[in-house]
Amino acid sequence: MSTDNTLQAIKFDKEQVALSILDQLLLPYPTTYIPINTIEDAFQAIKKMQVRGAPAIAIVASFAVTVDTHLHLKSKDQPRTVAQLVSSIEYLITSRPTAVNLSNALTDIKKLVLQSFQPGDEVTSKVFDLIYKYSVALFEDDLANNYKLGDNGVSYITKILQQQNFKGPFSIVTICNTGSLATSGHGTALGIIRSVHQQLKQDLGKGFWLDQVYPCETRPYNQGAKLTSYELKFEKIPFTLICDNMVTSLINTLNVQKKSVKSSSAPVKFIITGADRIVENGDSANKIGTFQLASIANQFNSRFSEEEKIKFIVAAPRTTIDFETKTGEDIVIEERPSNELTTLKGPVLSVNEAGVTEVGEKLTVGIAPPDISVWNPAFDVAPHDLIDAIVTEDTDAFVKNSNGEFNLRV
Ligand code: MRU
Repeated sequence: MSTDNTLQAIKFDKEQVALSILDQLLLPYPTTYIPINTIEDAFQAIKKMQVRGAPAIAIVASFAVTVDTHLHLKSKDQPRTVAQLVSSIEYLITSRPTAVNLSNALTDIKKLVLQSFQPGDEVTSKVFDLIYKYSVALFEDDLANNYKLGDNGVSYITKILQQQNFKGPFSIVTICNTGSLATSGHGTALGIIRSVHQQLKQDLGKGFWLDQVYPCETRPYNQGAKLTSYELKFEKIPFTLICDNMVTSLINTLNVQKKSVKSSSAPVKFIITGADRIVENGDSANKIGTFQLASIANQFNSRFSEEEKIKFIVAAPRTTIDFETKTGEDIVIEERPSNELTTLKGPVLSVNEAGVTEVGEKLTVGIAPPDISVWNPAFDVAPHDLIDAIVTEDTDAFVKNSNGEFNLRV
């Protein structure tokens, strides 16, 4: 079934206990929901990135354990023990290593089950009830928290612009996809952008308003071009797509030369990114290219006055904070296969006689010689000293104390 124009990444039917996910590999063109019935289905979908984004993979994994348990209970010929269930949950944790939400959620489920049942016990409907309740709450809390996070982002942005005595239109740069598609809905960094778009409009009288969003293409997997552009277009938020290597030039053009890019001359005031893992000192792992954005802001800021500075914001729910890890050095960075860099996948596009673009068969094209050495880390770590604020659902924003430290425990 093809479905144009949806931002719903995850569908969970609470009555039927059925899970399906939007195949994000096919976006931004019409795509399909694929059923996830087993832990193995979820492992493959997460690894292939049919669903991606730290909160979304944790939610899908938790729902997949729920559905898998439900189906095992229904097929009476396949009873299994708590130990077997726990070992398949441990296997699912290995599907992607960097986003802490996945391991946090699955570890919580494991602990919850092992608190009440012995490894040798048979998995019963009581085990199922525990997992079901946890997964539904994870999804619902994530959605509610994203709206709070969006509001907190608006408060932080408002405070900064007022402190800087800024008036007029401004722009925001972002990377990867951190929106509805990467979460239960609304999003984190893109959630703040959504909230800013709604709450800081020109006619609302605050004196400043969001004029333009610049999503970075996000090579090599193009989540910015394919997914964030799709969400921004869907929401009618004004945006201009750029490649990752255009950010310095963009800021130079808008903020230093004070010239226009396309139709907007609104300076970049904020770079907002999501996170896959924020560790105790505030170092934040996110999509490869995030560290580069933080460094670019820092480089410009060293020449800018206080009023001109660009703030670098990390936006994530508290489920993305990893208090077990002290610094970013200890974050395991996933390396993806070389073909994600050496090939591009997408449908053939053609324009018919009526001038309408038709979407044809999906193709893979080579853009580099085969069998070459390729380094493809999926994430990098922005050090805390380059981050101005960490915005979560809990407080307006975590900002650093006078020693330049974040205190994420409060
Ligand atoms: O490899 P991906 O697409 O899963 O990477 C996603 C990101 O890096 C996101 O910025 C992060 O998970 C936050 S999503 C709200």
